[in-house]
Amino acid sequence: MNLSTSFVGLNFQSPVMIASGPASHDVNQITLAQQQHVGAVVLKTVCSDKYEHMRYWPRPRYKLLDWDKQIGGRSKYFTLYSYEQGYSGTLEDYWKFIAECKRHSTVPVFGSIFADVAGDWKMLAANVEASGADAVELDISSPHKPGSLDFETTFTAAIAAVVKAVKIPVIVKLAASADVVQQSLVAQECGASAVTLCNRIRGFDVDIETQRPILHGNFAGVGGPWAKYYTFRHVAEAAQSVAVPISATGGAMTGSDIIKYILLGATTVQVLSVVMVNGWDSIAAMHKEIAEYMQRKKILSLDEIRGRALKAMAHPDEIVRWSGEPKSGPRNVWK
Ligand SMILES: Cc1cc2nc3c(=O)[nH]c(=O)nc-3n(C[C@H](O)[C@H](O)[C@H](O)COP(=O)(O)O)c2cc1C
Repeated sequence: MNLSTSFVGLNFQSPVMIASGPASHDVNQITLAQQQHVGAVVLKTVCSDKYEHMRYWPRPRYKLLDWDKQIGGRSKYFTLYSYEQGYSGTLEDYWKFIAECKRHSTVPVFGSIFADVAGDWKMLAANVEASGADAVELDISSPHKPGSLDFETTFTAAIAAVVKAVKIPVIVKLAASADVVQQSLVAQECGASAVTLCNRIRGFDVDIETQRPILHGNFAGVGGPWAKYYTFRHVAEAAQSVAVPISATGGAMTGSDIIKYILLGATTVQVLSVVMVNGWDSIAAMHKEIAEYMQRKKILSLDEIRGRALKAMAHPDEIVRWSGEPKSGPRNVWK
């Protein structure tokens, strides 16, 4: 079955990509991803020297919450709670890392960068390009990014500067918020080739016995299978407003989740938690499920179904509402 698709002008053998994070932090992982026939890999985000402290992580940096709610020996429901910021090496290490990944991989490799001032974004993006990456993703949406940076003042200028500085496609990764559509439109106006929707949510948890925040003691990134329902909404809204392609990310655990994202308008889907929690062969299981679906539905290419569910969405004014009895009288009386 042909799962191939085209994204930002690149040919992908699958819509499933490995999202930036701990599963794309060394060259061996790129080889493992390639063995799973993924569409592409987004490398762990590197931050500018100003944020050098973000290259050092607290340990432990992850906690799996609600892990005990297992079904069939594999966790189908969990919250992955984590605090992990930038790539753990220097900038020089990162440029070499990209070059090595390209040497060992036939799948497209995206660099991922984080900075504050436009000049640093430009410098990072230019080096990602010079190191041989096929595209660059701008991680403007980390749940742990320093507090004072906001979309209007910092990131709009950064996107425009990067787009001007490089020839490779520029993808902007946005946070889940009420502004996703607006920010996607701005990213598009600034010349971005695509948007990635959405980064993990900034969350928090407390231990009632110690009465202290868990793990490293501060806010954390949270996500898990449940997160997809938020991102389904954001992808569906953005897909109806922007022309650039969408790479969806958030809570995809199965082939059905990938298909749902495509039905809602995404071109590719980035996954990470499923690999961290259930292993690399989760990707093979996803591919099998997608292929079986395509066969059952007689679909030759995933392009055929992209956005199809959006066309079937009901307008709020046209939602069929129940209008039977009781029309009046007390509503909370059990008859
Ligand atoms: C431990 C961890 C580290 C992550 N690090 C990064 C990162 O460096 N840059 C980035 O853009 N996203 C990062 N992410 C977000 C993922 O790339 C991905 O978008 C997100 O986890 C949603 O996908 P998932 O639900 O399949 O995990 C990280 C996520 C986790 C769980």
